[in-house]
Amino acid sequence: MRTFFAAIVVLLGSVYVSSTSCNYYNPHAQGERLYLTHCAACHMDDGKGLRDLIPSLHESAFLTRENIHFTGCLIRYGIKRPDPLDPSQEIFPMPPLPDLSETEISNILNYIGNHFGNEAGYTNPVKLRETLSDCPNRAPRQY
Ligand code: HEC
Repeated sequence: MRTFFAAIVVLLGSVYVSSTSCNYYNPHAQGERLYLTHCAACHMDDGKGLRDLIPSLHESAFLTRENIHFTGCLIRYGIKRPDPLDPSQEIFPMPPLPDLSETEISNILNYIGNHFGNEAGYTNPVKLRETLSDCPNRAPRQY
């Protein structure tokens, strides 16, 4: 009998844990997961980047309320520009991620825009769509 009650307690416990841990929609968690998958290899888990090669995302001018939507363009089309000291060379580029949906880009922006000391607030889906439809750095990539 005691084993039976113990089994019931374990069963109820596991139902409770599974219902609270993963069965709900949390865009912030998706933003963090996407950041770790697509960005952290370069910008690092803590967003601090890699010295002169990869810029830090801490208190970034690209992650302010004014610029956050434009940063969606950098995520979708990447950054590639000539080295100012030697225009025949390119500065280490940021690769484009054309397969991310608007929602995924928005979730990444909401995550990095409110982490690493940034206070960009949340993206506006209409403004993000407008900005992404007219990115200055879309092909041919001259930005
Ligand atoms: C392969 C490495 C790499 C990956 C992956 C990468 N980046 Fe970058 N990122 C760079 C480099 C290099 C630059 C600077 C490029 C330049 O200025 O020419 C940059 C610049 C930026 C900037 C502008 C910051 C500044 O101060 O210039 C932002 C914002 C940014 N990345 C966000 C992201 C996000 C968000 C992701 C993931 C969706 C991402 N990056 C993935 C390498 C990477």
